Amino acid sequence: MRKQGAVPGRIKVSDNRLMYGGDYYPEQWLDRPDLLRTDIERILEAKINTVTLGVFAWAKLEPREGEFTFDWLIKIMDNLWENGISVILATPSGARPHWLADKYPEVLRMTAKREHNLFGRRHNHCLTSPAYREKVRIINTELAKRCGSHPAVKMWHISNEYGGDCHCPLCQEAFRDWLRDRYGTIENLNDKWCTTFWSHTYDDFAQVESPSELGENSIMALELDWKRFTSDQTIDFMKDEIRALRDAGSDKPTTANLMYHFNGIDYFKLAKEIDIVSWDSYPVWGKHSDYEIARDNGFWHDVIKSLKRKPFLLLESCPGATNWQGVSKLKKPGVVEAAALQTIAHGGDGSLYFQMRQSRGAEEKFHGAVIDHYGGSDSRTFREVCKAGEMLEQIAAVAGSSIPAQAAVIYDWENRWAIQGSCGPRSDNMYHEECIEKSYYALRRQGLNVDVIDQSIPLDGYRFVAVPMQYLFHEGFAQKLRNYVADGGILVMTYWSGVVDENDRCFLGQTPYDMTDVLGLRREEIDGLYDWESNHICKIGAGEGITQPDPSDARILSGMRGEYECRNLCELVKPMGAETLMVYDSDFYAGRPALLKNVYGKGRVYYICADAEQAFYDDLYRGLTELAGVRGPLPGGVPEGVELTLREDGRDRYLFLQNYGEKPVEIDLPKGEILYGSPESLAPLSGIVIRMSKK
Ligand code: GLA
Ligand code: ZN
Repeated sequence: MRKQGAVPGRIKVSDNRLMYGGDYYPEQWLDRPDLLRTDIERILEAKINTVTLGVFAWAKLEPREGEFTFDWLIKIMDNLWENGISVILATPSGARPHWLADKYPEVLRMTAKREHNLFGRRHNHCLTSPAYREKVRIINTELAKRCGSHPAVKMWHISNEYGGDCHCPLCQEAFRDWLRDRYGTIENLNDKWCTTFWSHTYDDFAQVESPSELGENSIMALELDWKRFTSDQTIDFMKDEIRALRDAGSDKPTTANLMYHFNGIDYFKLAKEIDIVSWDSYPVWGKHSDYEIARDNGFWHDVIKSLKRKPFLLLESCPGATNWQGVSKLKKPGVVEAAALQTIAHGGDGSLYFQMRQSRGAEEKFHGAVIDHYGGSDSRTFREVCKAGEMLEQIAAVAGSSIPAQAAVIYDWENRWAIQGSCGPRSDNMYHEECIEKSYYALRRQGLNVDVIDQSIPLDGYRFVAVPMQYLFHEGFAQKLRNYVADGGILVMTYWSGVVDENDRCFLGQTPYDMTDVLGLRREEIDGLYDWESNHICKIGAGEGITQPDPSDARILSGMRGEYECRNLCELVKPMGAETLMVYDSDFYAGRPALLKNVYGKGRVYYICADAEQAFYDDLYRGLTELAGVRGPLPGGVPEGVELTLREDGRDRYLFLQNYGEKPVEIDLPKGEILYGSPESLAPLSGIVIRMSKK
């Protein structure tokens, strides 16, 4: 038996299978045994091997306080297991029965305007409430005792898409305790929060209230700490949920489904408390080009993969059209299979759907599903699901293999929070996420695997690290970067980095904080541009050169265009030893440095001063990754529209290529065994998986 909380080396449903399936709500269909029977037929036909049960089933599991009804669930699990189908069993805390809110009104969430919500919706509960925690403990305990050791159950799905905050009196008290732990004295808090500003000094922790438009919303450190607290409180709630399962004797691994671009919880912290990371992906296919959608979705796959730097699961995706996006667009043929393949390429060990059977009424009745209201196996969506199921069987050998990366981009939750609340220099939009993605996309164009990590993660093993807009520096982060460069690493840092400490207090003296000698420059000013304004980053013309670039920089520059557009933010720096490689071409700062390089120890640092267009990053990073000796499996990177990813295990490497462009592409493929796809040419939306022996 596995030890408590131990992570399985390879997340496999059974030998050589990737997980395939989705959220299944048989509790909505208990009066239709005929449909539950045909569901099994469909599941088997689509090569589905796993379903998630129990998400939102609380009212059917405990219809009245203390009265439990697990028989229906056990019967469903027996039936699934007899047919070889495994179960991911969810704790039901994402939504709760009416009786619970009626009897314990404290469980209802309170808004920032201090209004108590009524019963309704989901994720509408206070995560501090002792009553809610106790009721969740009881249902989780019963669930684990009655169902946890069922042979079908492979893992626990803890709640559903945790998120949101609560401003009730219980949460206010918990927040104050959290602050007491962090700051010790109110004087220290006042100092760290800079509360002398506008005479907002606190006399006592008891005066602190969560941020609200009705009250305090001018102390950015308060906002930042409220986000930290909410994140910690959610993780603490989740830990309580897991503890109940463990105390009831279950040692099965746990997962929690995370959300796309969600920033309400520090996912790097949360990931430490679960065994397997998973997420829910709902790209808006058809709204932008397939390549743009795939790139962005790939970015988030890589964020999720990087949380543990281990294989993950995709717990939800939609096999048809969603119903909650502004426009419910059908997925054109091939998208379902391509999306499932992309999941596995980026390190997924399973790809699942929301939902197995489309619900009959209420909010999600028009949300796409594996089995729709018609119910037959001859629907277009069902056939697409079957094709994806076949593909996953063909590439099952990759299950459990790792996704090694030599390049990393720093993307940090606290920094996201701090930038969002910073009030300047461009309150309209700082384009922070876009700035991160530009570095990420440029590395992916080189055909490189990329880790997307926060500032707490060690940099050992990376040879190229990008630090885009890392406004907030924890103590020690600069030192880590310094060591990384001194040891020979290539570092890119952009504008608006090293500006504030972890309390959003501006660093005094030269910035980027503790990095000016490494960078060979200091920040002087930053210009916010209106949406309609732009500037350009240009090569230095003959005769104007400040110094001749060294041969490696000359090579990098020779692969770059004469000029690139930049927008939104333009930083002005004073070189203090760094070489200027490119300059601005207009405004009063025409001729001032826009791209600089400095040598520090055995490494090099490149500093980008402005929000440049994607092509600038693509061209610059091509040269820099070559300089760093970081090479993808295909020489020269990949053509636009193509995604390339590599997984490997002790014996083999698995190359994934997918064409999200509009035209077929010809690629010289490395030698190996083709697990999936055709070697002829890569048609739009098609892919190929090649197994290459390491020997
Ligand atoms: C989320 C939820 C699901 C469902 C889907 C619909 O991901 O977790 O319960 O509502 O959205 O797309
Ligand atoms: Zn609360």
